[in-house]
Amino acid sequence: MNIDIVVVGAGGFGRETLDVLDAIEKQSPGSWHVLGVVDDAPSESALLLLSRRGIRWLGPLAEWLLTNPSAAYVIAVGSPASRAQIADQIGSHGLTAATVIHPRAEIGTLTSVGEGSVICAGTQVSTGVEIGPHVHLNPNSTIGHDARLEACVSVNPGAIISGGVVILDESLVGAGAVILQGLHVGRGATVGAAACVTRDVPAFTTVKGVPAR
Ligand SMILES: CC(C)(COP(=O)(O)OP(=O)(O)OC[C@H]1O[C@@H](n2cnc3c(N)ncnc32)[C@H](O)[C@@H]1OP(=O)(O)O)[C@@H](O)C(=O)NCCC(=O)NCCS
Repeated sequence: MNIDIVVVGAGGFGRETLDVLDAIEKQSPGSWHVLGVVDDAPSESALLLLSRRGIRWLGPLAEWLLTNPSAAYVIAVGSPASRAQIADQIGSHGLTAATVIHPRAEIGTLTSVGEGSVICAGTQVSTGVEIGPHVHLNPNSTIGHDARLEACVSVNPGAIISGGVVILDESLVGAGAVILQGLHVGRGATVGAAACVTRDVPAFTTVKGVPAR
């Protein structure tokens, strides 16, 4: 039986998440039924792109929550801090956060994936990995064995997180970046695209380049 789901976020990652839901439905018919997208201020172009794929805008988040919805939800907003804020806003309404994993993602043994996380196509998650809630793993990212990614972390396309790395809440790893084994990335940190991280990254700092500084 299809479960009703609403995607929060009408932007690019919202549409990518809809693609992941489509792929799941194609692989396992009867999984999800997309009711629509909620977004506080969708652009005209976003609404056009959604309508072209037959997806309705259900209004701003606060208004949608006032309708006492019972659907599951997934937050498809790229900014980790915004995602955390939205998760808090929805949290008290008792809704279920759906975990959305593309059928072409590989998930290793003894790995856990938190509720509300989105794992895109081509992603490889190794064994013994802990992925917290509302984490985004973008296409072709790689998460090494025994890594831990806490709530609302974003890993952009093609990034490589080596074994045993710990990434705290609301951090973002840029596209194609590499984080070497066993390192620690503090809360709210940003790793630039194509960086090679060779040392721990303090909380709320941005590092970039090779080696990352
Ligand atoms: C590192 C990053 C966070 C910096 O953002 P920012 O603070 O807005 O930086 P700016 O764009 O103002 O650039 C500041 C300087 O850093 C340089 N820079 C920006 N990103 C860089 C990167 N990834 N690696 C090396 N240098 C970078 C710029 O060239 C600029 O240099 P200059 O001062 O000599 O001209 C950002 O550029 C980045 O890489 N974000 C990840 C993006 C990503 O993953 N995109 C894919 C989305 S799917």
